[in-house]
Amino acid sequence: MKTLVVAGARPNFMKVAPILRVLRARGLPHVLVHTGQHYDDAMSDAFFRDLEIPAPDHHLGVGSESHAVQTARVMERFEPVLLTERPDWVLVAGDVNSTLACALVTAKLRHDLGCRLGHVEAGLRSHDWRMPEEVNRVLTDRVSDLLFLPSRDAYENLDAEGLPRDRARFVGNVMIDTLLSRLPAARERPILARLGLRQREYVAATVHRPSNVDGAAELSAVLRALGDVARVMPLVLPLHPRTAAAIARHGLEGLLEPLVVTEPLGYLDMLALLDGAACVLTDSGGIQEETTALGVPCVTLREQTERPITVIEGTNRLAPWPLSPGGVVKAFREALEDGAARSRRPDGWDGRAAERIVDALEARPAPV
Ligand code: UD1
Repeated sequence: MKTLVVAGARPNFMKVAPILRVLRARGLPHVLVHTGQHYDDAMSDAFFRDLEIPAPDHHLGVGSESHAVQTARVMERFEPVLLTERPDWVLVAGDVNSTLACALVTAKLRHDLGCRLGHVEAGLRSHDWRMPEEVNRVLTDRVSDLLFLPSRDAYENLDAEGLPRDRARFVGNVMIDTLLSRLPAARERPILARLGLRQREYVAATVHRPSNVDGAAELSAVLRALGDVARVMPLVLPLHPRTAAAIARHGLEGLLEPLVVTEPLGYLDMLALLDGAACVLTDSGGIQEETTALGVPCVTLREQTERPITVIEGTNRLAPWPLSPGGVVKAFREALEDGAARSRRPDGWDGRAAERIVDALEARPAPV
């Protein structure tokens, strides 16, 4: 059984690392394809180092472009790789443009090549079609042979779209495999001292969703909200390149003044920063899950979440929408008061998800 694993953007790397490790440990042939959607040292190479991911067998070098061009470039460059490698399985992860692009190429060639497609982190839905990630999730699930669910509530999303349950496997959260295995190393990192922060006496924040950062009004509301929180407790903001570019474009640099701003952090430093925080404010999907696994209160700066289990069982809550400084500060104060108290780690977030994924691949279910 030969498996081709695709990774393209920052949130993919922590999901493929444990799968590659299990494939290697079981002596199963595999190749890694990096599409190059993210390409900076900070957004890509640092994660390969921190997560000890081997160098990719193929690097497609697509870079940043409009959605159409980026998706099309991945498709054009992935097709010859798939034709050459002829794997039994293609595994794509998450909801980025690279995920959908490689899924589409595989779906069109699967009958000729006799290969099958597995989607890691399947079945999540925000029900917000303005998000490019929602388009990527729904379409990738639709063309996949096997859907690997991080939480059981995803079954209902698949039911609602008429996707048969026998295509889905509840395996748990593979990103938490990485978190649990790298937490001891993260706790050795001197990042808090470097930034002059003390355990549980600071807030960590991230913002990069197009809906929060691309428009001047939205971006300024988010940055003002972070500034107001920073007046209560020091707030550190590792700045995503999309957000940095938008701040420069709209001339909003002054709003960063109350914040501790850093470059994007590598995996271990970011994990250390989340682990030590009193509270996290974010519009990231993955960080909602990581804070739940760590038991750290989280306020999500979005209208809705495709990860409701982090609110129902974990430490997450949604900030009042539309975002306003007053609403964010209120949610932040409530999160500090009761955020971690009601939390439990969801089922299957136990460090063994990658093993269950590879078990399912080896079981060779019937093709769709
Ligand atoms: C992408 C994903 C998003 C994910 C996020 C995590 C899609 C549709 N979106 O959004 O789901 O949460 O990654 O980071 O796939 N850039 C760099 N260096 C890099 C990569 C990007 O400077 O290594 C800059 C470029 O100016 C680019 C911008 O960041 O235009 C946005 O990158 P892009 O990959 O298009 O989308 P993200 O906003 O990162």
